[in-house]
Amino acid sequence: QTLVKDLYRNTENYIDQQVRISGWIRTIRDSKTFGFIEINDGSFFKGVQIVFDDSLENYKEIAKLPISSSLKVEGDFIYTPQAKQPFEIKATNIEIAGTSNVDYPLQKKRHTFEYLRTIAHLRPRTNTFAAVFRVRSLAAYAIHRFFQENGFVYVHSPIITGSDTEGAGEMFRVTTLDMDNLPKNEQGQTDNTQDFFGKETNLTVSGQLSAEAFALAFRNVYTFGPTFRAENSNTARHAAEFWMIEPEVAFAELPDIMDLAEEMVKYVIGYVLENAPEEMTFFNSFVEKGLLDRLQNAHNAQFARVTYTEAIELLKQSGENFAYPVEWGLDLQTEHERYLCEKVFKKPVFVTDYPKEIKAFYMRLNEDHKTVAATDLLVPGIGELIGGSQREEREDVLAAKIKELNMNEDDYWWYLELRKYGGTKHSGYGLGFERLIMYLTGMTNIRDVIPFPRTPGNAEF
Ligand code: 4AD
Ligand code: MG
Repeated sequence: QTLVKDLYRNTENYIDQQVRISGWIRTIRDSKTFGFIEINDGSFFKGVQIVFDDSLENYKEIAKLPISSSLKVEGDFIYTPQAKQPFEIKATNIEIAGTSNVDYPLQKKRHTFEYLRTIAHLRPRTNTFAAVFRVRSLAAYAIHRFFQENGFVYVHSPIITGSDTEGAGEMFRVTTLDMDNLPKNEQGQTDNTQDFFGKETNLTVSGQLSAEAFALAFRNVYTFGPTFRAENSNTARHAAEFWMIEPEVAFAELPDIMDLAEEMVKYVIGYVLENAPEEMTFFNSFVEKGLLDRLQNAHNAQFARVTYTEAIELLKQSGENFAYPVEWGLDLQTEHERYLCEKVFKKPVFVTDYPKEIKAFYMRLNEDHKTVAATDLLVPGIGELIGGSQREEREDVLAAKIKELNMNEDDYWWYLELRKYGGTKHSGYGLGFERLIMYLTGMTNIRDVIPFPRTPGNAEF
């Protein structure tokens, strides 16, 4: 079996050789006695041209095949270095592996991304989505490589959890109870002790709390898995199911994990530029003009760093007419985030030290008692790509915070114990993997960078 990728990468090895290729017809045309097929075998962004003629006993049958039929081709490799296509295959035998129907929806014309979402099972066969999902795979591998090469231990945090890490109440309930006949306790509330786990459980919104437990044993750890949020925000950047990478580092303070995040983002950019050149050039031509420049700039730049308080000043002075108000104490909206990285700094920027009221309970309280040691990394085209913080390692401060927020203290006893037994300073962040893929490809809707998107009202595939 020959892979088309290898034909392109090691062309000269195939001169005068016989090859065997299996794949799907992208285009087919024929005259009376000979024809051309472009076949894509999935190993490479481009296909290979097959020449076939009526010396094949099934010539007529092949010539009639609709696109997307699958074939097994044997043939001679013809080297044509002067031609536009540097090689082609002269078929000596073609076996029809699977015929396609003439109503195959992906005909030659260009389709909108909206339409392709309605045929998400077929869209990986298009150029754009083939490129997106190859880059997605490579970026995942690059992230594992980055952390493994730097001595991080990969931790599998649970999917079903009993706590709400972000405290935002945006969780999907996991239950075996019959929702029509819920058991009630004496107060008339649902009796969760009768549920499978004996308590209320949810799909995880973040693996961070588990990662902290492991960081306090291994020092450097990361998670990489699916996370779930029942945010009812129907935006181009939010999915109900998305993948998150969460490194957590013991003895690290906020600037240490900002350095780590910067190094990681640059590593992944470098990796995909090097390992998916055809795909990245395609995005640069057809999805976002200037993509390669934008990524090269980020790769070579030093990311900017400003405090939230400075960022608010910059936004106030901008003279821009923002839709949402800019006021110390209010959270930054996407339009503000994008203004900062696209107009002010023109590169990725870390914003640090947010007001404690708008951030999660576990973030370390700063000396001013007003802000926390938090950071968001904002990138052009996206806004927030990463959210992270130094964690509150002081048991009394953390316990007081959990009380103050009326959180269910029973759910966090083990998390507090981490502070009790050799708890030390530690910090980490979460990177939204789909947002990273959007950043790397120029795709503007999160639904188009995850194979089968889960968003409000949409779990079709
Ligand atoms: O800022 P977030 O909520 O931070 C956390 O979950 C922390 N526990 C991370 C940590 O410190 N270990 O989420 C982290 C990132 C965001 O910056 C964003 O990129 C992504 O996750 N994200 C989403 N991506 C897609 N759809 C959603 N609904 C997302 N919510 C967050
Ligand atoms: Mg965040």
